[in-house]
Amino acid sequence: MKRMLSGIKPSGQLTLGNYIGALRNFVAYQDEYEMFVFIANLHCVTVYQDPKELRKNLKDAIALYLACGLDPQKSCIFLQSDVMEQAQLGFLLTCNTYMGELNRMTQYKDKVAKQETNITAGLFVYPSLMAADILAYDADYVPVGDDQKQHVELARDLAERFNNRYSPTFVVPEPVVAKVGARIMSLSDPTKKMSKSDETNKGCIYLLDDLAVARKKIMSAVTDMVGAVQYDKVNQPGISNLLEIMSSLSGEPIDSIVTRFEGKGYGEFKKEVADVVCETLGTIQAKYQEIMESDIIEKVLEDGANKARYIAHKKLMKVQKKIGIEIRK
Ligand code: AMP
Ligand code: TRP
Repeated sequence: MKRMLSGIKPSGQLTLGNYIGALRNFVAYQDEYEMFVFIANLHCVTVYQDPKELRKNLKDAIALYLACGLDPQKSCIFLQSDVMEQAQLGFLLTCNTYMGELNRMTQYKDKVAKQETNITAGLFVYPSLMAADILAYDADYVPVGDDQKQHVELARDLAERFNNRYSPTFVVPEPVVAKVGARIMSLSDPTKKMSKSDETNKGCIYLLDDLAVARKKIMSAVTDMVGAVQYDKVNQPGISNLLEIMSSLSGEPIDSIVTRFEGKGYGEFKKEVADVVCETLGTIQAKYQEIMESDIIEKVLEDGANKARYIAHKKLMKVQKKIGIEIRK
């Protein structure tokens, strides 16, 4: 069975974008692949987080993983910081990454371009840690949203570099980006990605949003003056985004939705999008409540960390021997 691995940062409440672009795919893949899914809590602190909020977001993220359908019997679910081998491999890979490569990473470049202050060294080297996350487990495939593809490509380069410099050690991973829903846009500004760190709070639907609030956000989503439900990302980015949301959640192809809404207004269309979104959120939230009231989370994390640590440890030892920093057999 091929192996698949992915992670999500708990740097805020999980969003509908995370669900469509990442989580729901993980759930679909867990029957087909040996799945590893972790909470990237180390990646998360490359930007300052309020400790109290972080603790809450972390626990919520795990509960939401489970609520969205990740099954601990099928997938190894763990916390990044529980596997210290991962961070150590991260350092060793950082020593095999060039400054120029990290300088080219879009996420970092964007922050520099926006003249953000307080960019940490951790944020700069984070793609090398992400490579370690992937390479420690010999993942064949890495399902990610559009924005993370570049980081997976760096992981490929680092794997190949290491394999060539020393000897075959790492599986070269492949990014997997879904065709529909890889980039869900903000409802209030459909030219921007729907993001956890949405300042206005209007453009982003959180998985734990009250259903009435979620509905309101969809009903007031920015549209256009064209007045027809059509998939045209350039001229109708708002409507196209709603079409992608609806199609990903209902499974109905975009063409078919467009045909059904021919000659109908945006209000009617938005109402149906809101129905579909609320149905999904309602199901997830009911399961989330059950999980929060049980004590399953700790057990899942402990089992997951044990399994993950075993694999990552073996890989780290192999790497350390090849590099020459380990002399014991
Ligand atoms: P992040 O929230 O940035 O840690 O992302 C976690 C995962 O969710 C990554 O695979 C992202 O690419 C994906 N993701 C985040 N936001 C969106 C979005 N608006 N649309 C699609 N996928 C997303
Ligand atoms: N960097 C990813 C993000 O911000 C999260 C992540 C960390 C990840 N390590 C990973 C994703 C390994 C896939 C594989 O969304």
